[in-house]
Amino acid sequence: MLPSYYEFFNPVKIASGKKALDNLPYELNQLDVKRPLIITDKGVAEAGLVRIVTSAFADSGVTLGGIYDDVPPDSSSETVKTIAKVYLQNECDCLIAVGGGSPIDTAKAVNILVSEQSDDLLKFAGHDVLRRPLKPLIVVPTTAGTGSEVTYVAVIADPGRNVKMSFTSVHLYPRLAVLDPRMTVTTPPKITAATGMDALTHAMEAVTCLQKNPVSDAFAMAAIELIRDNLIKVVKNGKDEEGRLAMANAACLAGAAFSNSMVGLVHSLGHATGAVAHVPHGQAMSIFLPYAFEYNLEKTEPDVARLLLPFGGSDEYTGTPATQRARRTIELIKAFRQTLFELCALPRTLKEAGVPREQLETIARKAVDDGSLTFNPVEVDYSDAMFLLKEAYE
Ligand SMILES: NC(=O)c1ccc[n+]([C@@H]2O[C@H](COP(=O)([O-])OP(=O)(O)OC[C@H]3O[C@@H](n4cnc5c(N)ncnc54)[C@H](O)[C@@H]3O)[C@@H](O)[C@H]2O)c1
Ligand SMILES: [Fe+2]
Repeated sequence: MLPSYYEFFNPVKIASGKKALDNLPYELNQLDVKRPLIITDKGVAEAGLVRIVTSAFADSGVTLGGIYDDVPPDSSSETVKTIAKVYLQNECDCLIAVGGGSPIDTAKAVNILVSEQSDDLLKFAGHDVLRRPLKPLIVVPTTAGTGSEVTYVAVIADPGRNVKMSFTSVHLYPRLAVLDPRMTVTTPPKITAATGMDALTHAMEAVTCLQKNPVSDAFAMAAIELIRDNLIKVVKNGKDEEGRLAMANAACLAGAAFSNSMVGLVHSLGHATGAVAHVPHGQAMSIFLPYAFEYNLEKTEPDVARLLLPFGGSDEYTGTPATQRARRTIELIKAFRQTLFELCALPRTLKEAGVPREQLETIARKAVDDGSLTFNPVEVDYSDAMFLLKEAYE
């Protein structure tokens, strides 16, 4: 059934292919910019990935404005301010984020400061505070997970108040996302698995959350099929360029889906677990996905049954009685996690992820306050969250 009203929006140009980065000089020229600041982190720089980006500029009219390669995992307003200064001192005119969700979100926040000529990031936190277009931001993702290259969201820590600030605005959309498998062949197996499970969660929550619509469904279903066929392949063989490109596309499709349909319970539990116990986002997604899906089944059964087609394949779908398909989808999610555990020790439980049992109450309290719950199809209170955390514990 169609929603009585819905919106779907995504303005990001996608350039995808084995040598997609080679088009960068043309793309920058189209955007009328010639002095980019590259924002990345140490892991990405040490993997030699920045060199691939800069060598794409050789013999072009583009002059590199600078490289900032020290973005930490939980990027803060302080880091953002430091990078904004580098941008201004070096007279840059655009930003290129090269990395996973951390450098990408950082670049979005730097763009706010340099475009608004401000050093007070806090002023722009929240929904729709930005009023005008920012400088062009180009994103080259090096993990296939967050989908931040096509979302209008940035999350940045405010160390002064010990909170994570969220920024959402149409002006935060990057202008271009470049999906080039050379940028993900170096992602280690466990990070590949965790970030891939983040993408799977985006796609699966997109199909079940309250703002779902036919367009976000189409993007999500395509993403799930690509993840089914490629995630385990690239965890086994990171050098598989076809598989890496397929996963980069899957993460991107899932990102476009969830930034319209929104996400729910898996993300609220995961955000809280990340904040309290510092479990990486993708690992937390993988741990909670089957339990949260079981919990939501009373409202989502038909949609979860539909997921069996892209996730299980046509034989599995037709061979399973209609009344069993939703349960079968959840069984297959558990089997998928088991394979990833055997291949690269991706944790299946909170205990395996190193979460102390004493932290469950604090996590439950934070989870019920998380904004993602607004879009979950079933209400969740503190005792429900505790029930789910205990189920996911061991
Ligand atoms: N804005 C959004 O829409 C959105 C959505 C989901 C998550 N996020 C944010 O994204 C962040 C998580 O991002 P992530 O999961 O991509 O991880 P990440 O960016 O923190 O990277 C994880 C680690 O992998 C390394 N790495 C990344 N790519 C590599 C490569 N190709 N080769 C070798 N090493 C590589 C990095 O150096 C880092 O050490 C969180 O802060 C989360 O809040 C944002
Ligand atoms: Fe996520």
